[in-house]
Amino acid sequence: MGLNDEIKRRRTFAIISHPDAGKTTLTEKLLLFGGAIHVAGAVRSNKIRKTATSDFLEIEKQRGISVATSVMSFDYKGIKINILDTPGHKDFAEDTYRTLTAVDSVILVIDSVKGVEEQTRRLMEVCRMRATPVMIFINKMDREGKDPFDLLEELGEELHIAVTPFTWPAGMGSNFKGVYNIFKKNIQLYTPEKSNLSELLMETGDISDPMLKEYVGPEILRQLLEETELTTGLYETFQKNLYLEGYLAPVFFGSALNNTGVLELLETFIEIAPPPTPSESYERAVSPDETDFSGYIFKIHANLDPRHRNRMAFMRVCSGVFERNKMFYHTRLKRKMRFSSPAEFIANTRSTIDEAYPGDVIGLYDTGSLKIGDTLTEGEFLHFRGVPNFAPELLREVINRDPSKSKQLDKGVRQLTDEGLAQLFLQQPGNRKIIGTVGELQFDVIKFRLEHEYGALCDLQPLTYVKALWFTFDDPSELKEFSNRKASLIAYDKDNAPVFFAESEWMIKIMRDAYPSLRFHKAAESFRIS
Ligand code: G4P
Repeated sequence: MGLNDEIKRRRTFAIISHPDAGKTTLTEKLLLFGGAIHVAGAVRSNKIRKTATSDFLEIEKQRGISVATSVMSFDYKGIKINILDTPGHKDFAEDTYRTLTAVDSVILVIDSVKGVEEQTRRLMEVCRMRATPVMIFINKMDREGKDPFDLLEELGEELHIAVTPFTWPAGMGSNFKGVYNIFKKNIQLYTPEKSNLSELLMETGDISDPMLKEYVGPEILRQLLEETELTTGLYETFQKNLYLEGYLAPVFFGSALNNTGVLELLETFIEIAPPPTPSESYERAVSPDETDFSGYIFKIHANLDPRHRNRMAFMRVCSGVFERNKMFYHTRLKRKMRFSSPAEFIANTRSTIDEAYPGDVIGLYDTGSLKIGDTLTEGEFLHFRGVPNFAPELLREVINRDPSKSKQLDKGVRQLTDEGLAQLFLQQPGNRKIIGTVGELQFDVIKFRLEHEYGALCDLQPLTYVKALWFTFDDPSELKEFSNRKASLIAYDKDNAPVFFAESEWMIKIMRDAYPSLRFHKAAESFRIS
């Protein structure tokens, strides 16, 4: 199969949701329908269930399995599906945002009882920023949820996206009977007690099929007829280009737990979801069908095995063919590298691959040369965009509690921040280490991992700054004066870019007024072009 055929048959996407909406369950059911696993329960949840920060063992356990579930690939009807997992916990939102840069589309899961929730809104904002195509799965129809019409209205209004239902629920809660496919005009029955897939997939003929009436009962059938008639004209007509541009989301109803409605979603997904799209680099747009390989790192997992200190960098292939043992050019370090055992993940197993194509996400074993945002090519000087660092709002100073272990502490802080768990800022004099995060939980994880993986004890002392903002000046004389006067509030990130620690929003305003050429930036790219 040539490069173009390989590209055409790939679909790389993420399932996103507010925690507990059913992301893990839906992922598992897609794997089940795709034949990648044979029993439910094979994919364990990659999430920190309770927000209990004391539950470190749980965090560790989750971290271990989250490598296996970071990407899951399977073939379905000749299409290679790559699902990228995202952590559900809001304190790890940055990791999720980075993962969203590596997908071509997303499936958003909504809990029918809760509707749009806080994380749903935030995640959709990121999708909108990147014009990512979105499909929506309204889950838990077997529970007494909100009215489907109200849910669709809520989605449209709160997520600022047009919606078109592709399926419609027949009843809900204790009366849930299945989902009706508006386009194919058949119904997939809800059969909670069945475990055999062929029974689960029992479909009826169209709405006049006597079997349907017998199964759902006259009342629900009447309601279904009325409601589906109402949907015509009420919602935007489906247009694939609007979906691909991120303006319109096809909506599916179902119950992931009971396998209902999942197949409709999967079948439509492989039909309309986009194959790998061009990737933006600072230098130029890179098309997947270019023969020269290129790819970038969007996620790092350190210390998979604490005894060996190895890490795994996750790379999205953007163009050409990645080959095992071939020399590739690391554009930040400006040197060649090769990888002898690149890994692919199929369901929950890992295997070495010889080749990977655009859209694929592979794991590269690394001993410290790769950072989030790094680009690999066949020689061209490229830097992919879109792996941002966000302005952290929680800042703490690392205070060493065991001077004999300062080397370990330095190494640990450096490696954990390379992993993207938090951002590191250095302040002179004294090389003060300040770490910034978007959530409290990361501090606990960092402290715990420093102690257990590096043997380094530290305190993370809260600082009163409200934000760390990157800054630039158009006028060098202003920069000089600002740097002198505000030295105690300036530190440098890992790429040596200056950041300003703001003590209040008011302070930010004062600085803007005092220095007309000063510009604050809420996000910095995690690499610099040099
Ligand atoms: P998440 O990854 O989005 O956080 O959600 P997850 O799939 O773990 O699902 C959260 C809870 O919702 C789980 O229950 C799961 O069984 C349940 N769930 C998922 N889909 C459905 C559905 O279609 N109907 C109903 N009624 N429940 C559903 P749990 O009790 O928190 O966990 P578990 O012990 O069942 O794993």
